[in-house]
Amino acid sequence: MSLRKKSVRDLMTDDNLGGEAREFLESLKTYEYSIWDYGFTEKIRMVNQDPEIKNLLKDNNIELGNLESFALSKLDMSNEAIKQFARLGYLRESTRLFSEDALSFEALSQLLQVAYFNKNNIDLPPNTERSNEQAERLFKNIASGGGMYPVEVYYLSLNTSGIPKGAYHYNLKSKSLDLLQEFGAAEIADICKAYMCETRSIIDFDNAGGIIVLTGMVHRGSFKYGNKSVIFNYIDSGAIMNNIYLLAGELNMGCCAMGGYLDDIIKGYLGLKTNTQIITGSIFIGNKNLK
Ligand SMILES: Cc1cc2nc3c(=O)[nH]c(=O)nc-3n(C[C@H](O)[C@H](O)[C@H](O)COP(=O)(O)O)c2cc1C
Repeated sequence: MSLRKKSVRDLMTDDNLGGEAREFLESLKTYEYSIWDYGFTEKIRMVNQDPEIKNLLKDNNIELGNLESFALSKLDMSNEAIKQFARLGYLRESTRLFSEDALSFEALSQLLQVAYFNKNNIDLPPNTERSNEQAERLFKNIASGGGMYPVEVYYLSLNTSGIPKGAYHYNLKSKSLDLLQEFGAAEIADICKAYMCETRSIIDFDNAGGIIVLTGMVHRGSFKYGNKSVIFNYIDSGAIMNNIYLLAGELNMGCCAMGGYLDDIIKGYLGLKTNTQIITGSIFIGNKNLK
């Protein structure tokens, strides 16, 4: 059938992914047996600890030989945006220890709503109105391939004041966290297992306020762009993640992205069912440990 004859709905529900892309998505998942693979865990441990590797990584810069070079102008600290961006970037860091008190729902609300939002429903500071289509359409605060915005944000509440422990979807339209499932001790232990907390013990799981999970609805872009769209899910997620990193410290929070998790356990709690609904990133957040 020609593309034009397909109904819009048919067009959008066909995920248009090739076998290679499907296999690639599957290959990105971590399974429980990976933890017992000595090569997998030992290589990460060795790279993390080897001083020679650390030293080599410090100055990573592609070698291009002798080229004519133009020094960039000195940063203009009289420009407020430059000053704040430099400051936020400099202060940004990964925090793996948190203080014991519950994360405030108020702080979490602020963080989510500035990290990822629809331009048509944000309270703007004075003098930032835009009268073009950006304001009317559902554009968001991040660039996104073709404006398809494949990323959905979820929150696993472990210890956040004012809301039950559980899995939530961050609804940008209604500006709310919508409860998918409450957690008891068994679910919390299962999530701890999904992050391999017992075996790797790299994050202060017991004191974390929660985990922001970024997911990609691959079909949202792939019906249009095919395999290439897989990358767009990660690019959008990176933009949101960086916003979270830049803002967390300003809200007295610590945060740490966590790439090691058992995908299928976390997917289960989010209710992600198909192979084209993927986890693209996750970030632990909690109160800053001031000790
Ligand atoms: C995609 C991604 C995955 C990460 N995964 C882990 C992880 O599994 N464990 C961990 O301790 N840190 C993880 N980090 C944090 C990095 O180790 C950290 O960003 C890096 O060492 C630089 O340190 P900084 O963020 O404090 O500047 C991850 C960061 C990113 C962006």
